[in-house]
Amino acid sequence: MSFPLYALPEEHDMLRETVRALADEKIAPRAAEADETGEFPWDVYKALVAADMHAVHVPEEYGGAGADALATVIVIEEVARACASSSLIPAVNKLGTVPLLLSASEEVKQRYLAPVARGEAMFSYALSEAEAGSDAAAMKTRAVADGDHYVLNGAKMWITNAGVSEYYTVMAVTEPGAGARGISAFVVEKSDEGVSFGPKERKLGIKGSPTRQVILENVRIPASRMIGEPGTGFKTALATLDHTRITIAAQALGIAQGALDYAVGYVKERKQFGKAVAEFQGVQFMIADMAMKLEAARQLTYAAAAKSELAMHGEPQKDLTFFSSAAKCAASDAAMEITTDAVQLLGGYGYTGDYPVERMMRDAKITQIYEGTNQIQRMVMARQLLK
Ligand code: CAA
Ligand code: FAD
Repeated sequence: MSFPLYALPEEHDMLRETVRALADEKIAPRAAEADETGEFPWDVYKALVAADMHAVHVPEEYGGAGADALATVIVIEEVARACASSSLIPAVNKLGTVPLLLSASEEVKQRYLAPVARGEAMFSYALSEAEAGSDAAAMKTRAVADGDHYVLNGAKMWITNAGVSEYYTVMAVTEPGAGARGISAFVVEKSDEGVSFGPKERKLGIKGSPTRQVILENVRIPASRMIGEPGTGFKTALATLDHTRITIAAQALGIAQGALDYAVGYVKERKQFGKAVAEFQGVQFMIADMAMKLEAARQLTYAAAAKSELAMHGEPQKDLTFFSSAAKCAASDAAMEITTDAVQLLGGYGYTGDYPVERMMRDAKITQIYEGTNQIQRMVMARQLLK
């Protein structure tokens, strides 16, 4: 009896090499500046588009690269290793468009996925509100039917890449009082009359990725822009997160890998007590633990990606919800620990802006918060186990 080799397919290893080369050449040199200025790195976006790495998950029938979920994870991981803010380009393009892939009409898919695949438009995802974060179903944004149109009013909070994205998947209440079953999903365009954006949030990390409110004031859109049936928007939103929490896990892995690689290089060079600090067992054990936690989280993330890929292709996976929450939670907790240890291993220098590890530590923190806080991931996992 033969047992298949437990390893990445060769093309995924090659993809990693290609993205790493691009990231080393074009993205890493821009990371510190994007962090300092808080400006969206348009040149990085253009470089990703030129390499067809900006929205790799878009299927070929809509003009995309048609990368599988594991390949998408590898792209996000390698971009995040160089610059966490930039990794939100492929990650949020996936987050914004998975609702369409899961539930939209063919007409909506054709109309909106092709420009994203061509790099002419980015796509954001607007679920959260100021008073409805973890309890997303408590949203207040309203969409009221008006003939063959809907009129949207409300404000979506914390929207990643708001202002730079052309398109938005917006969840809104169509049937008040019906709770999660009264929410529908829509495509809103930046150019729709009545759409505006709040000021950029001043954040701890991922500063090169704008986070802004999306404000909707009497935004009148055709009913054909509803994604799926009325009342199915919340389910589509949560089903989407089953696929995209894995991309946040990927982002966390990349940030952690960047910090580990930097720390390993540093401890071999830095001398104290007459020798490289890498020769001290106290340092060696830290490096070993960092790499062990990272690899454990990576294996869980890749297993989750494999399940996501099967589910996307009509083979529902009953444990996808568990795996995607577990991967996001494990990878983000690991990233926070690993980046904090990397700062520790660089000593005082690690605490300064002259070295990249303090930025990585700040960037890592968000991965424990967005796409559902890690308490929410633990709640989702426990519900799956206890149901
Ligand atoms: N897939 C499909 N449907 C699902 C589902 C899933 N994974 N999980 C639940 N549902 C369905 C349920 O079956 C239920 O439908 P029925 O009533 O028809 O049975 C409906 O959705 C509501 O489910 P719950 O009762 O479980 O919902 P809840 O109100 O208790 O909330 C929650 C569940 C897990 C707490 C959810 O609100 C949640 O995930 N909160 C966190 C919010 C979040 O992750 N926000 C991310 C914003 S995006 C972001 O942050 C962007 C970024 O990083 C860049
Ligand atoms: P709250 O829900 O107010 O939580 C406060 C604290 O209470 C947290 O520690 C939380 O874990 C805890 N808590 C809440 N409920 C429970 C519970 N039942 N059990 C245990 N603990 C609980 N949203 C989008 O829709 N689109 C985006 O693109 C997007 N991008 C973001 C980018 C950034 C930089 C940030 C900061 C947020 C982004 N978000 C986005 C929103 C993000 O998903 C929410 O911030 C997150 O889900 C938490 O919601 P909250 O901030 O309202 O915290």
